[in-house]
Amino acid sequence: MTKLELIDITQSYREAGRKLLAIRDINLTVKNGEFLTIIGPSGSGKTTLLEVIAGLQQPDHGQVLIDGAVAHHRRGQMAYMLQQDALLPWRTVIDNVVLGPEIQGQGRRQAKQRARELLPLFGLEGFADSFPAQLSGGMRQRAAFLRTFLTERDILLLDEPFGALDALTRRDLQAWLLDVWQHFEHTVIFVTHDVEEAIYLSDRVIVLSPRPGQIVEAFDIPFGRPRHETVELFSPEMIALESELFHALKG
Ligand SMILES: Nc1ncnc2c1ncn2[C@@H]1O[C@H](COP(=O)(O)OP(=O)(O)O)[C@@H](O)[C@H]1O
Ligand SMILES: [Mg+2]
Repeated sequence: MTKLELIDITQSYREAGRKLLAIRDINLTVKNGEFLTIIGPSGSGKTTLLEVIAGLQQPDHGQVLIDGAVAHHRRGQMAYMLQQDALLPWRTVIDNVVLGPEIQGQGRRQAKQRARELLPLFGLEGFADSFPAQLSGGMRQRAAFLRTFLTERDILLLDEPFGALDALTRRDLQAWLLDVWQHFEHTVIFVTHDVEEAIYLSDRVIVLSPRPGQIVEAFDIPFGRPRHETVELFSPEMIALESELFHALKG
């Protein structure tokens, strides 16, 4: 079943009186529960596309449909994790992660209780009352994820969430994210510029051209679920796919 549909999305910015086209004629259908990744070079319009999907920007033209209906007011239907999703340093982990529900005016007590239940799954058991500065980079990022998850939306938009992490932490968090995704059955739109990460995580990978971003190719990823990093990552199929994707990226 189709969850999300983008029809002819084009978006530009005004820069010093000139029109700068960021993305052009994006057509895309995302299935319910799919893990879809958008990959493209820096400046190709990935963040712009996520912002349009999230309803934070109105496109020049084009439409976004959710569950088959034009979604004019869709901010409330998506959880959006920003590229730099920093935690507030003066708030504890628990007070950071309930920020979303708090802003939405939901009961703090109920949100905190739900957050405490989820702390173990997010690898944060025992850290509810710690401050961000006391956590590792990976833990901070999992806390930012928990804050996103607690908004309880069925579409998750994740903008390069692992970009700032070291390679090993990044690998751990990728495997962890897949676990969490299978647990919640969200529809995920994930943005990265890392070829291996895109293939390892996704059901399908969409390649954007350099600006203005257009879809140049789509790859169905043939690996089953759950993924096993030791099997898929070092397989000949993986290496062949990486090479194909890399070439699509390079034009
Ligand atoms: N608010 C803005 N005003 C003007 N230009 C912008 C703005 N945001 C992004 N851009 C430009 O639009 C293009 C796409 O940006 P972005 O969507 O951030 O790409 P990506 O996330 O793929 O790096 C870039 O050339 C960028 O400089
Ligand atoms: Mg970006």
